[in-house]
Amino acid sequence: MLPTIARDADAVVMIDQRKLPAQEVYVRCRTASEVARAIRTMVIRGAPAIGVAAAMGLALGMRRSAATGTQKFAAEFQRTCELLASTRPTAVNLFWAIERMKRSFAAAVLAGDSVDEIKDRLDRESTAIHDEDVASCRAMGAFGAAVVPGDARILTHCNAGALATAGYGTALGVIRGAVEQGKRVEVFADETRPFLQGARLTAWELVRDGIHTTVITDNMAGALMAQGRVNFVVVGADRIAANGDTANKIGTYGVAVLAREHGIPFYVAAPLSTIDLQTPDGSRIPIEERSAREVTHVGGFRIAPAGASVWNPAFDVTPHRLIAGIITERGIVRQPYVESLKRAFDGQSAAS
Ligand code: MRU
Repeated sequence: MLPTIARDADAVVMIDQRKLPAQEVYVRCRTASEVARAIRTMVIRGAPAIGVAAAMGLALGMRRSAATGTQKFAAEFQRTCELLASTRPTAVNLFWAIERMKRSFAAAVLAGDSVDEIKDRLDRESTAIHDEDVASCRAMGAFGAAVVPGDARILTHCNAGALATAGYGTALGVIRGAVEQGKRVEVFADETRPFLQGARLTAWELVRDGIHTTVITDNMAGALMAQGRVNFVVVGADRIAANGDTANKIGTYGVAVLAREHGIPFYVAAPLSTIDLQTPDGSRIPIEERSAREVTHVGGFRIAPAGASVWNPAFDVTPHRLIAGIITERGIVRQPYVESLKRAFDGQSAAS
């Protein structure tokens, strides 16, 4: 399996996703600040992977702390949480992972743990977050594979693969699951302007796995569907609101509209850590805007004239009515999402 992110004694190690597929370079982040910078600059990206990175960055940062008393240590922990939380606003997995680390910290303090014991506990919690994410992806893969057609021509957008998670992937996990179940699968990977996660990362992962992959530019999806060459769409998510509205990479909304027009089922694959029941609907999801340079330049080369204004939202929101189902590690959740998403958290079987 692809090594997206790992922890060793003195660093969080990640494959540099800005350099793929040209170079396979690993970045060693030795402090929480370096992890925060890696998240902000998209050395690592993808909602679940960002959450894992934040948890590991917190554990590493606190491991390096020189504080001897719990009070000073707790103040430092709080500052490190704030630093990591400030990196990217849309992927709720980031805040979910930090909250989970905070709960672990609080439980340690309540149990009267020493600073060294708290450090050990934070290490264990971040490892658990990593390992559970891989297990969730595998479960999503198995549930999702069941709804993939036997002779599948799947369109996906952005990268919701092993690189975007601790391993295996969400949307690509569903594709991998279908292949493992013996289905014939062909994938169309949207290029995904401006950061090109589809052309660079999804295609790289799938080609490595020997899955037939065709890269298209984002504006080709409509023509491809009109020719009857797509029979299933699956994408990941950065945040799913309580009513099922889903924020994902910019361009996802357009794909969902096209899929509806052509009668193609449009699925979202995401773990429960991406579902935010505190956010009632998509209009309340904060959408990150990134630098104009991502749009004006490709591979360091300027393609738009200086002086042109740029709008660069990193995500858009797909309304729940366009989503045939949300594939989670507990099963496939369907409309009406307000009830079914809540039930998924209650631990009841969500599968339908
Ligand atoms: O800006 P990115 O590359 O972090 O955006 C990633 C996506 O939009 C993914 O589809 C999403 O995070 C799901 S990853 C399993």
